[in-house]
Amino acid sequence: MSDVNVAVAGLGYWGPNLARNFDDLARLTWICDASAEQLERQGPRFPTAQATSDFDEVLADDAVDAVVIATPVPTHFDLARRALAAGKHVLVEKPPALKAEEAEQLRALAQERDLAVMPGHLLLYHPGVQKLRELVDTGSLGEILCLYGNRQNLGKIRKDENALWSLGVHDLSVILYLIGEEPDEVWARGNAFLTPGVEDVVFCFLRFPSGKIAHMHLSWLDPHKMRKITVVGGEKMAVFDDMELERKVTVYEKAPEQPAHTYGEWRTRTGDIWCPKIPNDEPLRLECEYFLGLVEGDGERDQVAADGLAVVRTLEQLQASLEAVPA
Ligand SMILES: NC(=O)c1ccc[n+]([C@@H]2O[C@H](COP(=O)([O-])OP(=O)(O)OC[C@H]3O[C@@H](n4cnc5c(N)ncnc54)[C@H](O)[C@@H]3O)[C@@H](O)[C@H]2O)c1
Repeated sequence: MSDVNVAVAGLGYWGPNLARNFDDLARLTWICDASAEQLERQGPRFPTAQATSDFDEVLADDAVDAVVIATPVPTHFDLARRALAAGKHVLVEKPPALKAEEAEQLRALAQERDLAVMPGHLLLYHPGVQKLRELVDTGSLGEILCLYGNRQNLGKIRKDENALWSLGVHDLSVILYLIGEEPDEVWARGNAFLTPGVEDVVFCFLRFPSGKIAHMHLSWLDPHKMRKITVVGGEKMAVFDDMELERKVTVYEKAPEQPAHTYGEWRTRTGDIWCPKIPNDEPLRLECEYFLGLVEGDGERDQVAADGLAVVRTLEQLQASLEAVPA
């Protein structure tokens, strides 16, 4: 167990999951929520933590090493900035800010004060995504040609965030993580069918400097529940499917080839299809452990801040493309 003192702000739907993990892994010293009702509901679950509705009370406590922010998205930047300014390490739910300029400010402030500001990109800690990364990094799939994410379902219909920001942040964090580049061309189209100005269905296209291309289908108006990322390599193809219980990752030994006897004609090759073993570890626990490691001086603090910035910058570009053609 780590002796880092952690405060969790925001105890609505997601925050209690973070509080539970930090209560197990470190010292949960404060829980904070603007709503007295939430504090009353969650307080008994975390008897060793002090409770407050005043974020400044948490920041004023010198014993607090790290602040975890699970409040609504529009509050992230301001709360993260104030926590960094007070000398606290920060784990902030995704996206860490609504503008690239704000994410840059968070990164600069963290660098200046030698603190961690880590976005809650949960999927990056998923053992299935780690396996995809290993397959990409070891060259097992050959050169990566294209990849795409499917994040579709019927519901949950949101009114304050469109499908790009609400759903796309997950796939985008994985796509940028696997490719290791930021796109130099982005394109997004969608439509707001239910709530004016809030796109329920968004299609995105991204092209990277290396020539790789990616696509995301994001929707809460769909008959299929899909949580899938497909990576097409020149030698093999791999799929991460988070709806599967056991077969989270499948590798397809399928590829194009040019046998010598075909004199330059392309053929396709089909071989085995197999599923590597993926550990059952809870991604959120792994994310929390990674953050505690950063606080204690392990890992690359600036890399996580840079990852958060890259995702916000790309979301901002996609949003601009979406708005360029009014629905
Ligand atoms: N990583 C994931 O898979 C995942 C899943 C769900 C939600 N989230 C993220 O978690 C965050 C919270 O989402 P949610 O669904 O739990 O929202 P929610 O509305 O259920 O909870 C937010 C809580 O924050 C409190 N709050 C608001 N402003 C505050 C402030 N200034 N100080 C302290 N408390 C404040 C509210 O009273 C509320 O209890 C969002 O950023 C969301 O994107 C992440």
